[in-house]
Amino acid sequence: MLIKNPVYIIQDILKNLVTKGETVVDATCGNGYDTVFLAQLTGENGNVFAFDIQEQAIRQTKERVEKAGVQDSVTLILEGHQHMDRFVKGPIACAMFNLGFLPGSDHKIQTNWPDTVSAINKALNLLKQGGVVTVIIYYGKDTGYVERDEVLSFLAQLDTKKYNVLKLDYLNRTNDPPIPILIEKNE
Ligand SMILES: C[S@@+](CC[C@H](N)C(=O)[O-])C[C@H]1O[C@@H](n2cnc3c(N)ncnc32)[C@H](O)[C@@H]1O
Repeated sequence: MLIKNPVYIIQDILKNLVTKGETVVDATCGNGYDTVFLAQLTGENGNVFAFDIQEQAIRQTKERVEKAGVQDSVTLILEGHQHMDRFVKGPIACAMFNLGFLPGSDHKIQTNWPDTVSAINKALNLLKQGGVVTVIIYYGKDTGYVERDEVLSFLAQLDTKKYNVLKLDYLNRTNDPPIPILIEKNE
């Protein structure tokens, strides 16, 4: 199913956008699924920079990347994505942000809006013209609402001449559905 899981929607769009040899960023590598996906898109001559603040996430991503045989193009960075400009030289074709906490891990360790907004800003600066930053906002129960609101209001005020910002809504889903977002840099 394409629409049920927002990750599939985002990945489907990126499949048509990222080409072999390009540089991309996984800003929240977590269990490493998106890192492997990106490495398969960019190929062995591309570069995937994958960030996470948890050793567990970096370890799990490393295992998944090696199992998929794509380790040559992946750089794993145990550091907050708000510092990505120290490690990544642009232009990048895309950056993926999946916000929230690592499934199966301590829910208290999660993305937070000041770092997220700072990191999205840095990703936009590194982005090539025609490139895309993707964000999936996960929130619900007692967490993530402030980050949702702050990220949405930051994205809503981006210059229309420079960026196209698209937010998708799960209209018939209750219980705080995730919010997939695409930000395209104008050519
Ligand atoms: C929803 S999970 C990501 C899932 C991942 N994309 C995957 O494919 O499995 C969110 C991740 O963001 C990480 N995180 C939280 N704050 C961060 C920060 N400032 N910089 C980078 N990663 C961060 C968490 O440790 C967690 O692993």
